[in-house]
Amino acid sequence: VHQKEYLSNGFMKAWNGPSHEVYSPVALAQPDGSYARKLIGTYPVCTEKEALEALDAAVAAYDNGRGAWPTMGVDGRIKCVERFTQKIIAQKDIVVKLIMWEIGKSYADSVKEFDRTVEYIYATIDALKNLDRQSSRFEIEQGIVAQVRRSPLGVVLCMGPFNYPLNETFTTLIPALIMGNTILFKPPKHGTLLFYPLLEAFRDSFPEGVVNTIYGRGHAIVPALMQSGKVNVLTLIGASKVADELKKLHPKVNRLRAILGLDAKNAAIITQHADLKLAVEETVLGALSFNGQRCTALKIAFVHRSKVDAFLELLTQAVSKLKYGMPWEKGVSLTPLPEPHKPAYLNECIEDAQAHGAKVVNPGGGTAFESFVYPAILYPVNEKMKLYREEQFGPIIPVVAFDDLEEPIQYLIESTHGQQVSVFSQYASEIASLIDPLVNQVSRVNINCQCQRGPDAFPFTGRKDSAEGTLSVVDALRSFSIRSLVATKFNENNKQ
Ligand code: G3H
Repeated sequence: VHQKEYLSNGFMKAWNGPSHEVYSPVALAQPDGSYARKLIGTYPVCTEKEALEALDAAVAAYDNGRGAWPTMGVDGRIKCVERFTQKIIAQKDIVVKLIMWEIGKSYADSVKEFDRTVEYIYATIDALKNLDRQSSRFEIEQGIVAQVRRSPLGVVLCMGPFNYPLNETFTTLIPALIMGNTILFKPPKHGTLLFYPLLEAFRDSFPEGVVNTIYGRGHAIVPALMQSGKVNVLTLIGASKVADELKKLHPKVNRLRAILGLDAKNAAIITQHADLKLAVEETVLGALSFNGQRCTALKIAFVHRSKVDAFLELLTQAVSKLKYGMPWEKGVSLTPLPEPHKPAYLNECIEDAQAHGAKVVNPGGGTAFESFVYPAILYPVNEKMKLYREEQFGPIIPVVAFDDLEEPIQYLIESTHGQQVSVFSQYASEIASLIDPLVNQVSRVNINCQCQRGPDAFPFTGRKDSAEGTLSVVDALRSFSIRSLVATKFNENNKQ
């Protein structure tokens, strides 16, 4: 897919500037027996000036809240989003293929990502209808009648991640849009091409300048956008370091709203009373779905010392049954990694753990070939190792033995992350005693199940460096708007 046009100011434009070549992580066998990544497309590389022009288009379309979009009213905006959704559904096949080729996600998971995104949009529309009914009401206090409503915030700069390029982009872009904001949107570096088939849908569904797409290297174009002071809301699903740096560039950082989904190091706590079979099944799902490249993934397992040997044995068996292969192969769950640097980074983490006394428990664990990395279970992991604190975002399961439940709790207290934790125990009293200490460290405690974002109606957030603001079908609508009111005082001169 070679992009010859891009969407700016709400319109498609011919592109004559420099392009970035996209090589698929899927390396294919060549006639000479070697393997090569396939060139699957190009995308335009915008200059700072072009990015700023697109930002100005979003500013003009918002027009200080007087633009056609922010003043359209909820029903009109819902109709536009419905029209847009119909148009993107028509592009499902090509978008799913591009997800597979660009980020190496399995066919089943790519379809799931697409369908979940469409369901999310429809759920957002329903939620907005409800929210509008509830929040557009009249309140009377001390002779003042107030009509309460929710109003937009301005221009939203929206950047999604590579691991859910479609879904996580739209879980911020759609709620921001439907609440009346105008959008400047940069697709993720890995996961750009899949937006091409949707550009015309944007152009044909929304007024000019309401959704503007920019491409290129984030570090080259995004700082200028932030420095301009014209971005009212920054929404990013990505690294906390990047979010911190970008926020600092805004001249009025205290006036900037940030809705962020960031780093996480979610832990599993497997107590001496855990159902080990269940704990292993959920750990495999939690740690290795999409090769561990999920912010919600389980990234470290604390196992009671009395259960460690049995846990490692069952986990090794379960991992050995996972099928790896190309994204389009049936039943495949381990696939190529899109980030070229990732295999070397994961190897570095494994070597560092080995140097500090851990062993790769499962046969072949950590073996890399091209962009594949076979999952590694490492034990015993301790605080001297990178893997103890660092978010590996890949197929490694570090296992730590503990004697007292206070140890994993202390780990979470000291952590800079605070997204989720999973607790495995069959004793209700043990679980009950853990809930308060844990829920005050992370934003979601999962009992006898893996960490995850869904169901999407549940609030999705995190403590500490893991998030800012809250996402979900309903919470995102609130996050991208402000509660405002029109208050009228009734008196003798104001009877009508
Ligand atoms: O990477 C973070 C995603 O929000 C994870 O979502 O738990 O549904 O896989 P998920």
